[in-house]
Amino acid sequence: MVLRVSSGRGILEGLGFASKVWTARGLTVLSDTLLDRFPPIEVRKIPFDFPDDIDPVWNPGHHEWSHMINGVSLTMPYLEPFLIATLREAANEIDDPAVLEEIAAFVGQEGQHFRMHRAYNELLKANGYPQLAEVEDFMKESYARIKERRSLAFRLAYSAGFESMTLGVTRWLVEDRVKLFAESDARVASFALWHMVEEVEHKRVAFDAYQAAVGTYWQRALGVVTGSMHVFLLARKGCIVMLKADGKWRDPRSRLRLWKRTAEFFAQILPGAVRSALPGHDPRDEPDPEWVTQWIAGYGKRSDVDVAPLINTFDGRLDVPFDLDGNPT
Ligand SMILES: [Fe+2]
Ligand SMILES: [Fe+2]
Repeated sequence: MVLRVSSGRGILEGLGFASKVWTARGLTVLSDTLLDRFPPIEVRKIPFDFPDDIDPVWNPGHHEWSHMINGVSLTMPYLEPFLIATLREAANEIDDPAVLEEIAAFVGQEGQHFRMHRAYNELLKANGYPQLAEVEDFMKESYARIKERRSLAFRLAYSAGFESMTLGVTRWLVEDRVKLFAESDARVASFALWHMVEEVEHKRVAFDAYQAAVGTYWQRALGVVTGSMHVFLLARKGCIVMLKADGKWRDPRSRLRLWKRTAEFFAQILPGAVRSALPGHDPRDEPDPEWVTQWIAGYGKRSDVDVAPLINTFDGRLDVPFDLDGNPT
């Protein structure tokens, strides 16, 4: 089986008792525990498009929720390059070729994510929210400060902690997709859920990098809190700016809806976040939602890869947009 990463390096599985990794440095025999067989991580270049007619309130029935997701999107072109830079730096401290391969795939996926989010965020600014540029400046400075002042161990723990927390977010968004995305703009819903699919796919990478380069338990546990809360507070900033621009921030009913969804968010992510902060945690133990595995299996077989896989947000189920043979549904 070949790991499909842009670097072109490949992992060759052995015959059950050992596995072989080919790198630029040669062929290395690894134990099963090192490679810990998991499906390969694929870097996909999906042509999501964000034309001018997309309304930033992409879910008309859920104004506040639309801006919560928009706020998260705003952080991505700052958060994800930070994660990439941190894992690349960590790679200098890591000898394990399996982890290095994972990092290469992680960099490829996160690179696609933040570029897409940047395009979407440009649309938000052009379609009514130019003030978001100031929030972006704040985010840029915030990550520059962390990079300048904090150790690699801190930044890796932040990265592993944030990535662990996203598994809870993914489970919530995927399992409650009908409630959260039904009758919304399919282009935004499909984009958001695709990002979640790939977060599941590379769920182990930042953790493995942390374990290989640092490994201290308490710092990893702290990283769950610092990574999650920092991103939450940055995303909240963007969300508030948009709600203020819409005249909703002083509206008690709007505020109530925002609090309700925020409480739901914490209730959904808390159990997973606590688990990921415990000793002995391994993201591999977190089950992948079935919708995610269906999406990956179906996408792997489709032939029309030049077309963005759009979910039908009006079908009442928000199924994956292709069957197991890859045919569009
Ligand atoms: Fe991502
Ligand atoms: Fe990620």
